[in-house]
Amino acid sequence: MQAKGKATLEYTDGKTAEFPVFGGSIGPDVIDIRTLLGKTGMFTYDPGFLSTASCQSAITYIDGDEGVLLYRGYPIEQIAQHCDFLETAYLILNGELPTAAEKAEFDSTVTHHTMVHEQLTRFFSGFRRDAHPMAVMVGVVGALSAFYHDSLDINDANHRRVSAIRLIAKLPTIVAMSYKYTVGQPFVYPTNNLSYSANFMRMMFSVPTEEYKVNDVLVRALDRILILHADHEQNASTSTVRLAGSSGANPFACISTGIACLWGPAHGGANEACLHMLEELQARGGVEKLGEFIAQVKDKTSQVKLMGFGHRVYKNYDPRAKLMRETCHEVLTELGLHDDPLFKLAIALEKVALEDEYFVQRKLYPNVDFYSGIVQRALGIPTSMFTCIFALARTVGWIAQWTEMIADPEMKIGRPRQLYTGAARRDLTPIGQR
Ligand code: CMC
Repeated sequence: MQAKGKATLEYTDGKTAEFPVFGGSIGPDVIDIRTLLGKTGMFTYDPGFLSTASCQSAITYIDGDEGVLLYRGYPIEQIAQHCDFLETAYLILNGELPTAAEKAEFDSTVTHHTMVHEQLTRFFSGFRRDAHPMAVMVGVVGALSAFYHDSLDINDANHRRVSAIRLIAKLPTIVAMSYKYTVGQPFVYPTNNLSYSANFMRMMFSVPTEEYKVNDVLVRALDRILILHADHEQNASTSTVRLAGSSGANPFACISTGIACLWGPAHGGANEACLHMLEELQARGGVEKLGEFIAQVKDKTSQVKLMGFGHRVYKNYDPRAKLMRETCHEVLTELGLHDDPLFKLAIALEKVALEDEYFVQRKLYPNVDFYSGIVQRALGIPTSMFTCIFALARTVGWIAQWTEMIADPEMKIGRPRQLYTGAARRDLTPIGQR
């Protein structure tokens, strides 16, 4: 990489140190501070990585001020309109859109890896039936490394590719099994003549006693949810996958760390939390009680947040939220639910928040999770499964980011430093003398 300039740091007693500045293809430049410790004896301090680029990546670009999201350079709006999820997955993994022949081959390869090792199906019965499906997912996805030894050599590009395909192909099967286990229904094996999303819907909702009819509008909605959640550059779970992978851990173990991180309510758990919030608000009186609720959100002592609002990077309307709002309309119309009280409440809540000085000042806009919960609920997906759907979608982003990192000659084990604030060196008094 060629430096495009330099930055000079003035520090203790007027000393100075210079650092190269690099530019990406778009977006802010970065100051390369890798030599900072050697030159100054100091670290940077950046909790939450507010100003730190942890890697180079050519996969996803976000302009949070403008509300732009690009996968491999293509705007999310165009991808959502023209591609299905597997075409999007191909793009994210390989960097270019597939030709029709490449797409057919990729679809076929993924489709032929959707079954899981039969022994893995026994794994589920070790969990309590009332376990949260994300707890089951963390365990089962991590356990894939115990089943697929033949693709664990991270230094072999073909092993990496096979693991990526296995993860993308098997996640829908595992998510559906996690659901079937919690409701006490038999597992449904994948079927090869359906699309990725249709197959997933069938594994989730069909029962042996009835014929399952695929609804194209609902399948398309699920496909869109998957597309919109497929990657989002260096978010918390992706950074977790990269950090775990930087030690050389196998890809299945790394993806399970991503799932664990995604589970938190500030990240992937937000759509579940958002739907609970809407249901609770509805129970308290719905639109009538909006003012009271917003006042509670603005009261810092209440600890109440408007879930589905705000984002670390987007300081404008999340472009995924716009697309999800559109899908929400389509699904509710298809199902004859346009008068759905939660959807009406969400629209009213969005309007009030967007006009309120508290949210305007802080640039808090709806994020993708504000509407995705309502769509998933309409599709029949129970609230506790929402984050699993997010994990299924994000697996492609995680594995693409992991693959990019492993192939990067500049990769190093991730090892942040700290500002130590504990006790200075002191001598121990043996327990009998304390
Ligand atoms: N409701 C009320 N106030 C909020 C909210 C919210 N949802 N989000 C941020 N704020 C306030 C925050 O209290 C702070 O106020 P002040 O300046 O007075 O202290 C200000 O806005 C800036 O917030 P921040 O906490 O510095 O923002 P952040 O970048 O650290 O956090 C966030 C981003 C997503 C964690 C946060 O906005 C949030 O908790 N939102 C609700 C949860 C949510 O919807 N998460 C889904 C994110 S999108 C899906 C994903 O990518 O995982």
